[in-house]
Amino acid sequence: MENAFQDPSAITLASFTAPSPYLEDAVQVYLATWPGDLEKVRAFVARYATYPDFRGQVALVQNRVIGMGFGHRSQAGNWWHDRVATRLGGEHPALQDAWVLVELAVLHEYRSRGVGHALHQTLLRNQPCPRTLLSTEVSNTGARRFYERLGWDYVLTNFQFSEGDQPFVVMSRPAS
Ligand SMILES: CC(C)(COP(=O)(O)OP(=O)(O)OC[C@H]1O[C@@H](n2cnc3c(N)ncnc32)[C@H](O)[C@@H]1OP(=O)(O)O)[C@@H](O)C(=O)NCCC(=O)NCCS
Repeated sequence: MENAFQDPSAITLASFTAPSPYLEDAVQVYLATWPGDLEKVRAFVARYATYPDFRGQVALVQNRVIGMGFGHRSQAGNWWHDRVATRLGGEHPALQDAWVLVELAVLHEYRSRGVGHALHQTLLRNQPCPRTLLSTEVSNTGARRFYERLGWDYVLTNFQFSEGDQPFVVMSRPAS
């Protein structure tokens, strides 16, 4: 455990990797946020946990995981990186030596207490790259405001990862 935050008696953060039991807790937070198939989400998170420079964090209240975030080094050969590179060009500065924040989620009843901020700051501080990247849906105005306030800038404002998908924004930020 590390980094007591806000109410120090209530919220703590812990890192997780592929073998950690917290990975399953992160899956449960993911499913509470974006309902889907348990086995697919489990496989999705476990696969990302094997990627280079993976960093995962959970937030806990009294031993219950109530938030999670994770990411990895963004590099050619990763689906997300390659899709963004088709639009930006593989040599775009935002894609060089960058770490992508893949997911960040806090259970609904624990939002607006600084938990997302704490997870974000810890993940960015512990990752090794000089710049960071993320994508979120254009329609996710709450998350966009959250990231704008944390210093993220837009590199793409209307990007479809696959035909027929919702449009996404892609954002970039210096790591510190
Ligand atoms: C985006 C998300 C992770 C933010 O988590 P969070 O814990 O609510 O974030 P914070 O509490 O740090 O900040 C959110 C707001 O609370 C405010 N806040 C921070 N600390 C606070 C506190 N102690 N008391 C009251 N408000 C506080 C912030 O100013 C911010 O305000 P804003 O919404 O007007 O910008 C969360 O909303 C979420 O899980 N959303 C669904 C999933 C998602 O969209 N993820 C991002 C895309 S991948």
